[in-house]
Amino acid sequence: MRTLNFDTLNIYNGNLILVNKEHPITRRDNKYAASLVSVDSRHPEILLDYIAAKELSQLINHLNADNEILPVSGYRTLSVQKQIYSDSVDENGVEFTEKYVALPNRSEHQTGLAIDLAENNGEYDFIRPYFPYSGICMQFRKKAIHYGFIERYPKGKEGITGIAHEPWHFRYVGYPHSEIMSLKNLTLEEYIKYIKNFPYKGKHLKFFNYEFTYEIFYCSLAFIQQNPLTLPANTPYQISGNNIDGFIITLRKIK
Ligand code: DAL
Ligand code: ZN
Repeated sequence: MRTLNFDTLNIYNGNLILVNKEHPITRRDNKYAASLVSVDSRHPEILLDYIAAKELSQLINHLNADNEILPVSGYRTLSVQKQIYSDSVDENGVEFTEKYVALPNRSEHQTGLAIDLAENNGEYDFIRPYFPYSGICMQFRKKAIHYGFIERYPKGKEGITGIAHEPWHFRYVGYPHSEIMSLKNLTLEEYIKYIKNFPYKGKHLKFFNYEFTYEIFYCSLAFIQQNPLTLPANTPYQISGNNIDGFIITLRKIK
């Protein structure tokens, strides 16, 4: 076994952080920006967290879709999000803007883990790009869960996400969380709650694919402040804060 020591500020970092109306961006030190890269060389201005960018480009290469799917908007600074919000209020009014643009510091675009995509047909709408449930866009959507991405604002869950249906907005949460969320039809809001049913000291969530067994569990910040967290040696793991009150730990074991 090995004991982990880590900065409890990491509660605000990681692939699974929940950013929405109730849970704003908490880090104000631009920590996210350190790991940003261009999504591809043709769009140097569109940035994403480097692991999310790598997975996205592998996914697009796999689908041979780099001429068919266009990145529209990735990482946004606070000032860019403010500008988008106020421009949209001027152009489209408050009611529309509240549905489709997150308030400044409530946008997951500020984390570098979200990307808006458009079907490449010459022109696109910046706030609501066209990304249909057919053709290459549908193939992308189906494959995305194997590369750690989810469709973040699905139809029918508007009351939970606080955002209207956005077929174009994808969020990197990491594998296997993306596949579990899709299989169970859970938004990130719901998944963060669901994982709390699997505490460090209790029964863990198990997920299998053809290669690995994943073990997932939750550990509260309060627990970690009082107790060491020990994990099995020689087992790859990932830790993500949830941006609220604890951490989600994922172990990956060979079957
Ligand atoms: N369009 C999404 C909700 C954002 O502005 O972050
Ligand atoms: Zn978006």
